[in-house]
Amino acid sequence: MAVTGAAMVGFLVLHMLGNLKIFFGRDSFNDYAHWLRTLLEPFAPYRTVLTILEIGLVVAVVLHMWAAISLSRRAGKARPVKYVAKKKSQANGYATHIMRFGGLTIVLFLVWHLLDLTFGVVNPKGFNSAPADRMIAGFDPSRWWVTLIYFVAVVMVGLHLRHGIWSAFQTLGWANRTRNQALRASAALVSAVLVIGFLAPPLAITFGVVK
Ligand code: HEM
Repeated sequence: MAVTGAAMVGFLVLHMLGNLKIFFGRDSFNDYAHWLRTLLEPFAPYRTVLTILEIGLVVAVVLHMWAAISLSRRAGKARPVKYVAKKKSQANGYATHIMRFGGLTIVLFLVWHLLDLTFGVVNPKGFNSAPADRMIAGFDPSRWWVTLIYFVAVVMVGLHLRHGIWSAFQTLGWANRTRNQALRASAALVSAVLVIGFLAPPLAITFGVVK
């Protein structure tokens, strides 16, 4: 879970930084999208590197979900009788629910997100348009409900990451009594930066700051 999770956090950081290019104008954003598709050209044909990265991402998502399901099955077998008294940190508490429900919400959001900004199926500008035009039309003030969907999904991503990063620290064996607070704070900080960075472009477009 930790390895695939870390790969996806890496993707999210780069994706968030790339999205912020919309604040530097449509050309800056389109140039960046073009650069992604022409990485290592002419050595590698058009879109080769991006396609490899996309395949890696799909593999990471599938393995991450598989690890989540098999870990939860293993935990169930290890303790077939439920706890009588529940503690906050225990399995099946807030964290487990937010991770399962949040994970599913993120997958559903991804389907919408790809249909919207990658394939243009649910986007007013359609597929044959510049990426910046799709983005700006997609979050047009009249489509405030799309921004709301993104808002909810990104908050879910943030909650998922906050707990996921903290769990990864524990997996790495970094957590102990003295470091716990600092590690929890770091997980919260990384998640907060990603949430703010992701929400900035849609909100700026819907509120007319970016046109
Ligand atoms: C909320 C703000 C977000 C915005 C404005 C945004 C914007 C975009 C855009 C414009 C594209 C298409 C890029 C292109 O055609 O070159 C894209 C693709 C993608 N986004 Fe997002 N995104 C956001 C959040 C997220 C989140 C939270 C995730 C993951 C949980 C995510 C995952 C993806 C994936 C997997 C792709 C496809 C990448 C590819 O196939 O190359 N995005 N996004």
